[in-house]
Amino acid sequence: CGIVGYAGNVTTACGKPLEVCMQGLKRLEYRGYDSAGVALTAPGMDHVEVRKKAGRLSNLADDIKRHPMPDATVAIGHTRWATNGVPSDVNAHPHVSRDGKVAIIHNGIIENASRLRLDLQAEGYSFVSATDTEVAAKLLGKIVDTVIAEKGHPDLFEAVRRLARMLEGAFTILATDCRQPDIVVGARHDSPLVVGLGDGENFLGSDVAAFVAYTRHAMEIDQDRCVCVSATKVTVTDFEGNVVENPATYDVDWDASAAEKGGWDSFMDKEIHEDPAAVQRTLLGRFDEHGDVTLDEVHIDEHDFKAIDKIIVIACGTASYAGQVAKYAIEHWVRIPVEVELAHEFRYRDPILTPRTLVVAISQSGETMDTLMALRHAREQGSKVLAICNTQGASIPRESDAVLYTHAGPEVAVASTKAFVAQITAAYLLGLYLAQVKGAMFRDEIQQVLASLKDMPAKIQWVLDTQPEAIEKAAEQMVDAKSFLFLGRHVGYPVALEGALKLKEIAYTFTEGFAAGELKHGPIALVDEGEPVVFIVPPERGRNVLHAKVISGIEEVKARGAFIIAVAERSDKDVQQYADVVFWRPECPTLMSPLVDVVPLQLFAMDMAKLKGYDVDKPRNLAKSVTVE
Ligand code: G6P
Repeated sequence: CGIVGYAGNVTTACGKPLEVCMQGLKRLEYRGYDSAGVALTAPGMDHVEVRKKAGRLSNLADDIKRHPMPDATVAIGHTRWATNGVPSDVNAHPHVSRDGKVAIIHNGIIENASRLRLDLQAEGYSFVSATDTEVAAKLLGKIVDTVIAEKGHPDLFEAVRRLARMLEGAFTILATDCRQPDIVVGARHDSPLVVGLGDGENFLGSDVAAFVAYTRHAMEIDQDRCVCVSATKVTVTDFEGNVVENPATYDVDWDASAAEKGGWDSFMDKEIHEDPAAVQRTLLGRFDEHGDVTLDEVHIDEHDFKAIDKIIVIACGTASYAGQVAKYAIEHWVRIPVEVELAHEFRYRDPILTPRTLVVAISQSGETMDTLMALRHAREQGSKVLAICNTQGASIPRESDAVLYTHAGPEVAVASTKAFVAQITAAYLLGLYLAQVKGAMFRDEIQQVLASLKDMPAKIQWVLDTQPEAIEKAAEQMVDAKSFLFLGRHVGYPVALEGALKLKEIAYTFTEGFAAGELKHGPIALVDEGEPVVFIVPPERGRNVLHAKVISGIEEVKARGAFIIAVAERSDKDVQQYADVVFWRPECPTLMSPLVDVVPLQLFAMDMAKLKGYDVDKPRNLAKSVTVE
């Protein structure tokens, strides 16, 4: 879910709080788009003004246009990815207290909600929705009344702290009370929240995208903190009320235009075309004048790096495939074992971790709850965790021992594209750095790899310049296909998995990715007349033994009537013989090939989805940042 909050000038109610919320929600819509809602308040109101609608944010915007909302001084807004209760108007946030004076929005899952609900029902409370958030809203209303009775005046900050102490599970909440129309109060536990610092106004958001159009100056809110934001003041406390002095602040290194479409048809289109820049920017500033890799920013002692004898990559979705690609390279370069594990599986299988294990958490958003939980587990077991992350100040980098940022820029489309190539680049830099400090490679070998890495942005650009027409044509030809198989070997295997995932995510086509060698052990039974099979063909230079084996795989399925789409090197003559369609790539070393090979697959998935008339940026049922386990 996406959360935004605003506190402005308490003497002049105006349309700005609503405008900030709607703008912020638009930028956060990638976090969920099942329903959206806002709550406003201003001096003189006797209840919080709430408006919410199922479906996309545009439904809410249309409704507000038809029935305008009053001017306000503070506001909160929410865009929902349903976890608890189906997407509907009643289940949409904000939820309000029994007397309608307090409104709340929430991201996460409150695990003790059913017990709290029963307790409240026993006291005569009734509920209109199926959500855990309504339970929190009713409970907060009750606590606010208790605080008023005790103190003789409303104190939402204190009430939210008491609420936070009662909730179990994961939550970020924002609350507003019409009796205190100058503040918005937030609390966070295992779910993200940042403050945007303005001039005579302050902002709250699930991430900086919520307010970057207004300010790039942000304040980190740590785990288990409450925050009270007015137009001129931000106060942070723990759940007990102890004030946190001087919370860390930082400046966001991108501006609002980086998170806008800028003339592209979709964010996905724009972001695929940013693949070369994502690689380039991730390489930038990571070498010294002698060409050695310098990862000083990572702040892990060289001595600790030298001692590392195993790497475990934890990640989900696309990020896990980037990890799988990196495994081939790092094992080859550094000669230490690299395991890649889906973060949600990792924690529950009693993994073998020692202080010499380096756990690498890869995450575009830095907020994926599965990955966050896995990294906490690794740290509890005494391992060091290094995050490879694209989002400054997110929970995963903040809770890691070290961070290597990918500089892909904000990624808005739900299906990850440019972050994937940036993650591979960053993981490769880490591998080369380890090889350097451990003396696992000669200096000139490292420099050679670095030189090929630096060539990759231009090679990706070649694909983007020369291949789209063939890709579009193939998509037109295949648009009615019911299923696809994706096959690759070595680094081509995770690329096949990623290609299959893209097509699933946005074109809703049933796809399976396999290691091409596995074909004869089962998947070939799926091949029938006309079945589309996508092969990632390795480079053939030096008569690469895998090249010949992949070509045999192509022959085998071709003989059974498959429709072959191949991704292959432009000089590859064997492929031309069998493939119905080829997406060409320029020559590059095998370990570099994933950086180019994934690009036509990203474009192919996008073209397929567009031809089917789907929204490529916001595929059904998905959210970009999954902040629940
Ligand atoms: C979600 C997204 C995927 C993404 C995965 C991991 O499932 O839909 O596109 O790959 O999360 O996200 P992360 O932000 O941790 O890289």
